[in-house]
Amino acid sequence: MTVSATPRDRAPDLPTELPDLVLRELTVDDADAYYALLDRNRQHLSRLGDYRAESRATPAWARGQLAADPAPDLRYGIRLGGELIGRVDLIAVDPPRYGTGYWLDEAHQGAGRATAACAALYGYAAHELAATDIYAGVTRGNERSVALLGRLGFERVAEFADCTRFHLALEGS
Ligand SMILES: CC(C)(COP(=O)(O)OP(=O)(O)OC[C@H]1O[C@@H](n2cnc3c(N)ncnc32)[C@H](O)[C@@H]1OP(=O)(O)O)[C@@H](O)C(=O)NCCC(=O)NCCS
Repeated sequence: MTVSATPRDRAPDLPTELPDLVLRELTVDDADAYYALLDRNRQHLSRLGDYRAESRATPAWARGQLAADPAPDLRYGIRLGGELIGRVDLIAVDPPRYGTGYWLDEAHQGAGRATAACAALYGYAAHELAATDIYAGVTRGNERSVALLGRLGFERVAEFADCTRFHLALEGS
């Protein structure tokens, strides 16, 4: 008898409050679209020294990233009308406390899409994962990220040499 590992259930698709904007798990099936997205955002992602690995991505690197099972983290693609335009992650640092990371195609900034994507993921975390806290670290000078966290209700909780830590207390968990 052959015993094979049972593939884990796919994380559920998450709607957002914006029409046509949906979160769907990023998998190896997205490798080509993910690489194309990285390739046109190298400067955007590395402007403040973050996302160095992504800014040097090769097709094989991108495929390898998505081939790895993210569990227990959640790894979502932000999709507008089916097109991959960004990524948002929930990182199981110390459940029910989580970390997060997010980025958006530079061409899609300025329309509330990252805010809506993060709100959908953190709402899911609160209601379905009983998450109580989300933390984010922001490199100094990343004013767009600071503004996004402010819109979502995060508060500054610690200052470090190069970055600021923000915290969101979740309700409804
Ligand atoms: C951080 C990042 C995701 C923020 O993207 P963003 O486009 O500024 O954020 P949003 O998509 O939520 O859009 C907000 C803008 O849309 C506007 N907006 C329009 N409709 C909106 C709505 N319904 N809800 C919220 N904002 C809305 C806001 O007023 C804001 O406008 P502004 O750009 O003139 O200030 C993006 O800059 C990025 O990918 N940066 C590089 C990677 C990075 O730094 N990641 C974070 C590491 S900590």
